[in-house]
Amino acid sequence: MGNVIILGSQWGDEGKGKIVDLFSEHFDIVARYQGGHNAGHTVFIGDRKFVLKLIPSGILRPGKQAVIGNGLVIDPAALLAEIETLEAAGVPVRENLFISNRAHILFPVHRMMEKMSEGRPGRVSIGTTSRGIGPCYEDKIARRGIRVADLLNQEFFRERYASVMEEKVTIAKALGIYEDLDLARIRAEYEDFAARIRPMVRDTGWLLNQAIRDGKRVLFEGAQGTMLDIDHGTYPFVTSSNASAGGACTGTGVAPTRIDGVIGVSKAYITRVGGGPFPTEALDGAGEQIRQRGKEFGAVTGRPRRCGWFDVPLLRYTAAINGFDSIVVTKLDVLDEFEQIQVCVGYRLDGKVVSEMPPTVAEIAAIQPVYECLPGWGSSTFGIDSYDALPEKARQYLAYLEERTGVEIGCISTGPERNQTIVRAGSRFARLVG
Ligand code: IMP
Repeated sequence: MGNVIILGSQWGDEGKGKIVDLFSEHFDIVARYQGGHNAGHTVFIGDRKFVLKLIPSGILRPGKQAVIGNGLVIDPAALLAEIETLEAAGVPVRENLFISNRAHILFPVHRMMEKMSEGRPGRVSIGTTSRGIGPCYEDKIARRGIRVADLLNQEFFRERYASVMEEKVTIAKALGIYEDLDLARIRAEYEDFAARIRPMVRDTGWLLNQAIRDGKRVLFEGAQGTMLDIDHGTYPFVTSSNASAGGACTGTGVAPTRIDGVIGVSKAYITRVGGGPFPTEALDGAGEQIRQRGKEFGAVTGRPRRCGWFDVPLLRYTAAINGFDSIVVTKLDVLDEFEQIQVCVGYRLDGKVVSEMPPTVAEIAAIQPVYECLPGWGSSTFGIDSYDALPEKARQYLAYLEERTGVEIGCISTGPERNQTIVRAGSRFARLVG
């Protein structure tokens, strides 16, 4: 039924890649709407592992089209490397991938500028992926960015490039972070990239709207997660784009009236990479146990992820921001060996119950989570593909999360493979993605 957004309901890494790949079977086009190659969507097909950074996971389905929307920032070197890796693995990319002419282009100077924000004394260190994503979005908002269409127009590109680079070099020198970049060589390299991506460039807003008018179905794939959203996340410990549902419209040019449903993806617990407050972080052995069992290391940077317990108030907050129709709970099997499972059911600040997500990191860091303890199920759920086959206590755990969050759990993932998935019959989820 219609067009659906699938996005992360926590701090990213919820396992969206597998879910989008799996259900893209029922859609015609999969469109990414924000972020860049800071994202890492891992998909396993048989014994093959694909880590997609810029290209929507739908590309792995034969015959499906994939769109990189205007809301993304594109490092063309990273994009072309990803295309080549996929093609070497036998995935046809060039005929199925369309790149927005309005997306912004990321340059090596953006990585250089990021060192300034991350490394300078007195600046908050966000713990970014160091890909230059933030500085590229800064240029977009400051209206001095270079877009895909600009890159394709050699005369305009050369002019714009010269003025943007001159400004960057001046700032970098003044701040003492200048690296001797060969700007002429980089320009020539980007002109070569332009020639290579040109056949895939389209007005993707027009393409998507035409497709929708023709009765085709679009799946919008979020990157990162709602708590990393520039507006609604734990600012300033966030990414630089709108990872939440609203970003799907601004980041593709498809109106809210054309979207039929929003699905959140959540782990059965919670993780975070990089700095920032994390109310349910388990700093004891349980966090380490989750990290090891869940192989919780960043897909892009390899950094160990911080791990903790499922956070109901956080999910209720992200459900409201996104208007979730249903959620997918992933990595349930990671909790198989816990005798007891904690769930945060409320927040207290200075001893008082808080029902809203506090706006400042100082307040979020000071939250005292209120936990309830649920019994573990003590047996393997790995690979189970029917709800009734789950251990009773695992079903009780899911029912508890559903009741506390007020959001349907329409799908459960019990392993990385496509067939290690449960879709609940009669759910809103089944109706939206079927
Ligand atoms: P940036 O997106 O590289 O600017 O990083 C900003 C914050 O978002 C950092 O805490 C990163 O660790 C986090 N982040 C960015 N992309 C991802 C992702 O795909 N998964 C999880 N965290 C991410």
